[in-house]
Amino acid sequence: MISRNTPELWNANLPQWDSDKNNVLVCCQIRQETHDVKSFFFAPQEASVFKFLPGQFITLELSIDGEIINRSYTISSSPNRPHVISITVKRKPDGVVSNWLHDNMKVGMPISALGPTGDFTCVLYPAQKYLFLSGGSGITPLMSMARSFHELAEDADVIFLHSARSPADLIFKHELDLMAFNQTNFQPVYICAKVDKSPNWRLQPEFITEGMLTAESLKLSAPDFLEREVFTCGPAPYMASVRHLLATAGFNMAHYHEESFTFDELPAETQASVQAEEELSNHNNIQTFSVELSKSGTTIQCAPDQFVLDSARAAGLRLPSSCSKGLCGTCKSKLISGQVEMKHGGGIRQREIDQGMFLPCCSKPLSNLVIEK
Ligand code: FES
Repeated sequence: MISRNTPELWNANLPQWDSDKNNVLVCCQIRQETHDVKSFFFAPQEASVFKFLPGQFITLELSIDGEIINRSYTISSSPNRPHVISITVKRKPDGVVSNWLHDNMKVGMPISALGPTGDFTCVLYPAQKYLFLSGGSGITPLMSMARSFHELAEDADVIFLHSARSPADLIFKHELDLMAFNQTNFQPVYICAKVDKSPNWRLQPEFITEGMLTAESLKLSAPDFLEREVFTCGPAPYMASVRHLLATAGFNMAHYHEESFTFDELPAETQASVQAEEELSNHNNIQTFSVELSKSGTTIQCAPDQFVLDSARAAGLRLPSSCSKGLCGTCKSKLISGQVEMKHGGGIRQREIDQGMFLPCCSKPLSNLVIEK
């Protein structure tokens, strides 16, 4: 293996990695974090450094079975280490991309990526005290923030409440414990749905609460939670229960921030679909444009003031999507014919637009459309 730890790496004038100019990253290490979670580390193919905010995400562009698939992953590494970026991925039974990464990604393999981007970051919401709430692999953006505070030697006041299925599913526990050892104001709390008390267990059960995150366990771990800036990331049901719990407790939701990239979970999709159906029923008296999905042979209707993705959802189609804000690039599709008005937030490059690509989540039709889907 060729070492990257050369004088060139430490050249202070290294350019910033720009996915618009050179979008290739190379996998430089893979770490097994738990039995079904791996961290994948990537370095730019051409010498450059990453610049991002802790909590932001990156979108991978993968070719799986002949199909280009975009998936966003929040970055788990800290921006204070700008030469390498990491994502931490849990294998999911039906997760096309997570399984592909676990089974196929190897050290030295190139991968195309877009970003980093996103606004889920404590940097934009400075506060005296923070509460980080994460469920499962939703720990990644919060870990990036925690690592950032730690590496900047800030000793920020952070209570980090992480929920997992069992102690064996706790990601980054040893590192969080080390951060707590080094910083008096950093307090990790672990909540496991089920705790195995077997004597072989190498973690210390006395520091882990058994059960789920409840109003009681929250008050016990963070008695002053009403005064904290809250950042939450996890599966949609976890975040819904956190929102409910905080709102019921009288928390000022202006200080609440959440992020989720959960493609395999139906509830969020279903919810979006219901919303979109309601919107479409409001458009019943308006002239619509036809949207033909060339591969599936399906044609749907879309109102001029409706996003193409919403109309597809209303018709019961599940197109890949994530942010629904034109940021992540997950919904990127080829527009074979027709015109759209697109207001994206960085999820697509100009050269891709020039090649006929568009983002259905932030595009409204100006004519009948044919999409390669
Ligand atoms: S879903 Fe993120 S850009 Fe469309």
